[in-house]
Amino acid sequence: MVNRITVVGAGNVGATAAQRLAEKELARQVILVDIAEGIPQGKGLDQWQSAPIELYDTRVIGTNGYDETADSDIVIITAGIARKPGMSRDDLMNTNAGIVKSVCEQVARTSPNAILIVVSNPLDVMCYVAKKVTGFPRNRVLGMAGVLDTARYRAFLADALDVSVRDIQAMVLGGHGDTMVPIISYTTVSGIPVTQLLDRATLDKIVDRTRNGGAEIVGYLKTGSAYYAPSAGAVQMAEAIVKDQRRILPCAAWLEGEYGMSGLFLGVPCKIGRNGLEKVLEVELTSAEREALGKSADAVREPMGKVGI
Ligand SMILES: NC(=O)c1ccc[n+]([C@@H]2O[C@H](COP(=O)([O-])OP(=O)(O)OC[C@H]3O[C@@H](n4cnc5c(N)ncnc54)[C@H](O)[C@@H]3O)[C@@H](O)[C@H]2O)c1
Repeated sequence: MVNRITVVGAGNVGATAAQRLAEKELARQVILVDIAEGIPQGKGLDQWQSAPIELYDTRVIGTNGYDETADSDIVIITAGIARKPGMSRDDLMNTNAGIVKSVCEQVARTSPNAILIVVSNPLDVMCYVAKKVTGFPRNRVLGMAGVLDTARYRAFLADALDVSVRDIQAMVLGGHGDTMVPIISYTTVSGIPVTQLLDRATLDKIVDRTRNGGAEIVGYLKTGSAYYAPSAGAVQMAEAIVKDQRRILPCAAWLEGEYGMSGLFLGVPCKIGRNGLEKVLEVELTSAEREALGKSADAVREPMGKVGI
């Protein structure tokens, strides 16, 4: 375990991530930070009081400041607001960019060596804000989206095939949005190409459902968005770092020439270990997949150019 992991934003995703980190004992302390007075303190205390039952020694502490977060090994950023009626996507982006900027200024001051895992939306643009504001090297700024999108894809495939989720290997690349790119050519069931087990029409339906995975949950919840799987995704990345697992996970990473692209965050296969991003893996893609990845990059660049920070 590491000494300290901070989770900024004690809302649905942040609080659930803190609980998962504690239950896995990934750090001695998990610090939950939020601007809402009392919320992180109450949730932190409640989680610490479940420790004697769930049997973990990770101390969860809630706070409204950053002193307690000093020298965190990892900081997971989930602070933000959801879109309100009448608010455009650009309004939301600029509001959340302001929030992520103020959070990152504090984090860079108090935990200058931390590895950041950004979760706040719009994901790929918020990663850019985090990198720009902190000035951290690219190995220490990662975004969580591909792990979630891939988990949704794997869950739907497991349902369709009636097999264990464990046996489905897959990757969803690209930006976190309608343009995400599920890579069918690398989707296997215990090594068997999925195209041998499911027909194209079924696969296309699953890809479509994956693309709309977030909206499907919002449709049910009405007043909020998904948080169990998103928090699990962020914690899987944190675990790979803490345990130096060198896992190959689809994460949003700052590209420096990989896939012929530079100067943006995009979901690509990454090796994740103790240094955060150990390596971006460049894999062969079909021409259709490469084209879809390019389109996805365009959809990230456009708002990135407009963000006011
Ligand atoms: N990347 C992904 O795949 C993914 C998945 C799910 C959710 N998200 C995003 O994660 C974010 C959090 O989602 P949620 O469901 O937990 O929302 P939520 O509304 O439940 O929680 C957000 C929290 O952020 C806090 N906050 C606002 N400004 C802050 C600041 N300056 N400092 C600290 N805390 C601040 C709020 O008080 C609130 O408690 C949203 O932007 C959401 O869109 C991303």
